[in-house]
Amino acid sequence: MTDRTAKIAVIGAGSVGATIAYAAMIRGIARQIVLYDLNRAKVTAEVLDLNHGLQFVPMAKIEGSDDIAICADADVVVITAGAKQKPGQTRMDLAGANAGICKTLLPQLLKVAPNAVYLLVTNPVDVITYIAQRISGLPPQRVFGSGTVLDSSRFRFLIAERLKVAVQSVHAYIAGEHGDSEVPLWSTASVANVPLHQWAVQGHGKLSVRDRTEIFENVKNAAYQIIAGKGATNYAVGLATGKILEAILHDEGRVLPVSSLLKDWRPLGRPDAEAIDDVCLSVPCVVNRRGVDATLAVPLNDAELAGLRASAERIREAAKSLGY
Ligand code: LAC
Repeated sequence: MTDRTAKIAVIGAGSVGATIAYAAMIRGIARQIVLYDLNRAKVTAEVLDLNHGLQFVPMAKIEGSDDIAICADADVVVITAGAKQKPGQTRMDLAGANAGICKTLLPQLLKVAPNAVYLLVTNPVDVITYIAQRISGLPPQRVFGSGTVLDSSRFRFLIAERLKVAVQSVHAYIAGEHGDSEVPLWSTASVANVPLHQWAVQGHGKLSVRDRTEIFENVKNAAYQIIAGKGATNYAVGLATGKILEAILHDEGRVLPVSSLLKDWRPLGRPDAEAIDDVCLSVPCVVNRRGVDATLAVPLNDAELAGLRASAERIREAAKSLGY
């Protein structure tokens, strides 16, 4: 049931922000959707274009402005503002510039929307999420990032394509950094509770080591490929963020691999493992009205745990290099 009074504020009316607003609108996620951008002409044009389609979607009030006051009392603030990857650029290359934008924006947003859940999308999203938590001083559960929800969707799509099953029937996660050090959790990936390493179905193939390598390389490099072809990614990240917004505003308790603050985190069943601590990265989390309601301990094999630690180190180093 859509919360008839819920308000989403999207910060940044670039291709990602506008697509997130579009995804929220066509899925009827909130009653009020506002877009904020410094570029008044752009934000006005995006809102006009969205409103001209209102007849075809669930009713919503869609507004935009270059005045941050438009975000007043938002229930969720989605931050997409910042430089985007240029062809060949890594997400981490954007850290300095985008951390600065976050530092400027957050205090202004907290004044007008002090009770919101803050959802970071700006890259490098794990580093920006950690910095946003530190700047805002809000409870960490209310400040989290889109993380590897998009990467996991890409992972599931490519597995489903190979096995000729519906993507909705594949359960598999990418964990760690939303970026070059991300980790495919093959050991727990399954279709209908059949572990993928045991899957061999007539007419629906099986995954060789080579298949797995190719699938993961395509997941990890997807954004670079798309950016090289069309300059930016927007549709899938817009839909992924829409799914996170639904989980929050509809109080779903949906399990999603969002980027949250790990405190003394260990994999399931490994109480003696050295903990991963004080870093934002993605593992499956329970997402509801409160934000990240629980960060789950999931089973990892040794290679996956080593990969997650390497990811944590890379994110922590990037945050440290910016003074956090
Ligand atoms: C991507 C951007 C959102 O992976 O980082 O498409």
